[in-house]
Amino acid sequence: MEGALTARDRVGVQDLVLLEDYQSETAFLHNIKKRFKEKLIYTYIGSVLVSVNPYQQLGFYSSYHMEKYQGVNFYEMPPHVYAIGDNTYRSMRNEASDQCILISGESGSGKTEASKYILQYLSVCSASNDKVEHIKGRLLQSNPILEAFGNAKTHRNDNSSRFGKYMDIEFDHKGAPVGGHILNYLLPFTIQVHQASGERNFHIFYQLLEGADEELLSRLMLQKTPDKYFYASQGKCAKVSSINDRRDFLAVQKALKVLEFSPKNIDELLSIVASVLHLGNVSFSANEEGHATVDREHEIQKIANLLGCQFEQLLQALTHRTIEANKEKMESPLTVEQALYARDALSKAIYGRMFNWLVLKLNGSLTSKDRMRKNVIGLLDIYGFEIFKSNSFEQFCINFCNEKLQQLFIELTLKQEQEEYRAEGIEWEPVEYFNNKIICDLVEERHQGIIDILDEECLRPGEATDNTFLSKLEETVGKHPHFITHALGDSKMRKTIGYEEFRLVHYAGEVTYSVKGFLDKNNDLLYRDLKVTMSVSKNEIVKEAFPASELTKLKRPETVGSQFRTSLNRLMDILMSKEPSYVRCIKPNDAKMADRFDDTLVRHQVKYLGLMENLRVRRAGFAYRRTHDIFLNRYKSLCPETWPHYDGPSRKGVDVLCKYLDYKEGEYRLGKTKVFIRFPRTLFATEDAFQIRKHELATIIQSVFRGWRQKKKFITMRNAVTLLSSQWKKILAQRLKEKRKKATLDIRKFILGFMTRLKPRCPENAEFLDYVRYSYLMRVKESLPAGVLDKSWIHSPAALEETGVLLQQLNMKNLMLKYVKGVSPQRKAMMEEKVLASAIFRQKKKGYDESVGNPFQDKPKVEQLKPKMLATIDSGEQALYCCSVTKFDRHGYHPRSRTLIITSGATYLFDSKDGKLKQKISHNELRGISTSSLGDNVFVLHAPSDNKEKGDAIVQSTFVIETITKLARIAKKDQDVKIVDNSSILHDMTGGKQGRIDYVVGNEVSVTKTKTGLVVVAPAR
Ligand SMILES: Nc1ncnc2c1ncn2[C@@H]1O[C@H](COP(=O)(O)OP(=O)(O)OP(=O)(O)O)[C@@H](O)[C@H]1O
Ligand SMILES: [Mg+2]
Repeated sequence: MEGALTARDRVGVQDLVLLEDYQSETAFLHNIKKRFKEKLIYTYIGSVLVSVNPYQQLGFYSSYHMEKYQGVNFYEMPPHVYAIGDNTYRSMRNEASDQCILISGESGSGKTEASKYILQYLSVCSASNDKVEHIKGRLLQSNPILEAFGNAKTHRNDNSSRFGKYMDIEFDHKGAPVGGHILNYLLPFTIQVHQASGERNFHIFYQLLEGADEELLSRLMLQKTPDKYFYASQGKCAKVSSINDRRDFLAVQKALKVLEFSPKNIDELLSIVASVLHLGNVSFSANEEGHATVDREHEIQKIANLLGCQFEQLLQALTHRTIEANKEKMESPLTVEQALYARDALSKAIYGRMFNWLVLKLNGSLTSKDRMRKNVIGLLDIYGFEIFKSNSFEQFCINFCNEKLQQLFIELTLKQEQEEYRAEGIEWEPVEYFNNKIICDLVEERHQGIIDILDEECLRPGEATDNTFLSKLEETVGKHPHFITHALGDSKMRKTIGYEEFRLVHYAGEVTYSVKGFLDKNNDLLYRDLKVTMSVSKNEIVKEAFPASELTKLKRPETVGSQFRTSLNRLMDILMSKEPSYVRCIKPNDAKMADRFDDTLVRHQVKYLGLMENLRVRRAGFAYRRTHDIFLNRYKSLCPETWPHYDGPSRKGVDVLCKYLDYKEGEYRLGKTKVFIRFPRTLFATEDAFQIRKHELATIIQSVFRGWRQKKKFITMRNAVTLLSSQWKKILAQRLKEKRKKATLDIRKFILGFMTRLKPRCPENAEFLDYVRYSYLMRVKESLPAGVLDKSWIHSPAALEETGVLLQQLNMKNLMLKYVKGVSPQRKAMMEEKVLASAIFRQKKKGYDESVGNPFQDKPKVEQLKPKMLATIDSGEQALYCCSVTKFDRHGYHPRSRTLIITSGATYLFDSKDGKLKQKISHNELRGISTSSLGDNVFVLHAPSDNKEKGDAIVQSTFVIETITKLARIAKKDQDVKIVDNSSILHDMTGGKQGRIDYVVGNEVSVTKTKTGLVVVAPAR
């Protein structure tokens, strides 16, 4: 509840005691209306629950909600009827005291529903075992029976309880329900014989007609249609959309079985219900003497059958009356009017007494058999204050009942209030309130009160009428400040009160009653003959309900008013002996509609339920009270001394807090266990301050928490890092140690291995040698020769010298294989030529070494081969080599520019300019080739010289090595190449002569002719 102080703007206050303007009915109304609109139908006035009928199913009656309300502090949860149930149950258990819950409100305000919710709550939330479950079942099943026989549809409520009900639920010392007891306050009035349009008789009539099977109906001689029965059809609304009679009848039958009604009992019960229906259809006509006679006697026959009584006797009793005069009995016939009265009186009596029997029977079934000590919770579901346009004896009784309940409430609340002050040790705060005892006395006082005056009027001999009763009232209580009649009032009042009316100023307002019918209703006479007839009935229930002993009593039966007063006082005694809780029910509109709040209607009820009086009494002292602990706990943050903890006793803490909050002296009191705050505004100011403080605190708590969480996280992380790094360092150190250890061992082993490396393999050097081998192989792998010409090889260790040689050879083989495989046929041919060149020239002729790197021509150059030359070449031959040369004449040594072409058959020399063939030396004829060992490029082709042939040819070629090699290879004259070391070469000339070429060593190559021949200067080898 404290939590909801925040939302008070929207949903109003949950406890009306906290209304600032608690004297204002409008503020009161406004508050409950605000809540009603938010579907908050419950509001407290202190511990009183105000409940507004929502006329719709709201979702807060589930077992989940029941559980939530169990055992919690009354003010911790939003107001609820379960909170009342729980509080009552816990008080009963904790204090081992009897409790009662008084539920009041006008018809249709939700009393019965509230009582059912409480019963359900108690049943679900109390201790349990198999036996107890059985009892709980019975307690719950008593409701459908009582509602079927005691409830009816009225304008105000489709399920209106036509009786006041008080039910005790008995609990054992463990808090388990062990039994129950019902007290009923049936209004034995008009409902059953007269109904206004739109209303119905008791549900059971319609349930029976709708729900009974054919067999039962024919046994009860009934027809299915309610229209056929006067008592069931006056209101012309046998069918009601909100009621399912067939289903309800099944529920009743089931409940009767659960509560162990015998089949015979059930049969008799239904027979009585049927007999009343038939009785309603009995009509009378006047005979010639004006006496009543029954129109359809077979109706009487049916009734007699159903009630188990004599047909004739019943017929006689309905139309005659036995009068005793001078000890002589006489049969006096009734008029039609009297007969109808007798018929209705009989119906009411039968039904009323049957209902009493039913309650008795239910009690028999519910009463706990064991005699151990029990505590009870009483539930009172009783009609609230009624004010109609025209109010009669019924309203008089009801309103009297409510006066009594109000008095009880005032007394108990004030007593409670006083006791609380006393217990808390604070001085008594006088409470201003209106004590309605004066009105109760006006009604019930012996000899002076209205009930006794009415009785007197009913009983006195002579012509007593309703009007004489009114005069008697004026005479006796005329001066009472709460009693007014037309005659007693001033002129203004007279306009509002009729001649046959009196007005009572009730605590809840003025009510004007019409005296019409007061005497009859109070008498409610049932002619003796009918009682006699009933007392000999064969229907056990009827027989029990009309005991023969009643007939022998000389005393007149008690009047209805007296009976009512007696039972009410008995009820008051019962309630006074218990601790009461209150549920005040309000009906929000007359249309039974959800979400509609009729201000005028509710204001009216607030008034006559005495809720303002409730509030005033409750607020007389202090608006708010809570235990020190709760108060301190909630508001301690508002004072530095009490925040976050107050070490001393909580009372002292509250004192410190209140002083700090600057509460003025009159605004609060400190009791022994509770703090009392007089005005809501003081509490609200504190609450508002708390709401602001709460946000500040939340921010502080949040920031502190965040800081703490961050720090915690940081510390965890730091610890983790330290741990991790120390572990890591340890691991590293260990690794280093291992590494060093291993290194030391390795080095030692290495040195030992080194020292013994030259010995045969043994354990000392095995690893070293492996290492040497491995590293040698790895080094070899890294530094293998790049190609076949690369003859480098790394140094081999002593132990592997042979291996090194083998490996080098192997590698070279591999390289060569690879090289050879990569050589193309052309290149191969070229290489062969180079090899040939080597064989011929190597270390023999200067210039050879330089020529090695230059590849030879692989095919003749096309630009040098003129077509004419090619045409001259012998057919079938091909030019295999060609180059430009200078040819020296054998005579005169004149240099001529020639193109030299070698074919497979011969060497041709063509004039380079005109392409004419100048000399052809077939390979067969070539005798040899001569050149010098100097770095010149002159050579001689030795050819025969006859007439036909020209003889040796002196040729100078830029590519002397190439040209000679090509020729030697093609002509297969490699053996015939002669490199002369001496200083001259002789050559043949035609005519047998010989020419000479002299070689002179010099730096510059030059060829010059002399008289004797040629002089070639060239560098020496
Ligand atoms: N808490 C509730 N939730 C939903 N509907 C309710 C509630 N209380 C009452 N009602 C509706 O209002 C109708 C009348 O309620 P109920 O029978 O309890 O009134 P009552 O005060 O006992 O009237 P009466 O004095 O005529 O017996 C119920 O049948 C139900 O439809
Ligand atoms: Mg009711």
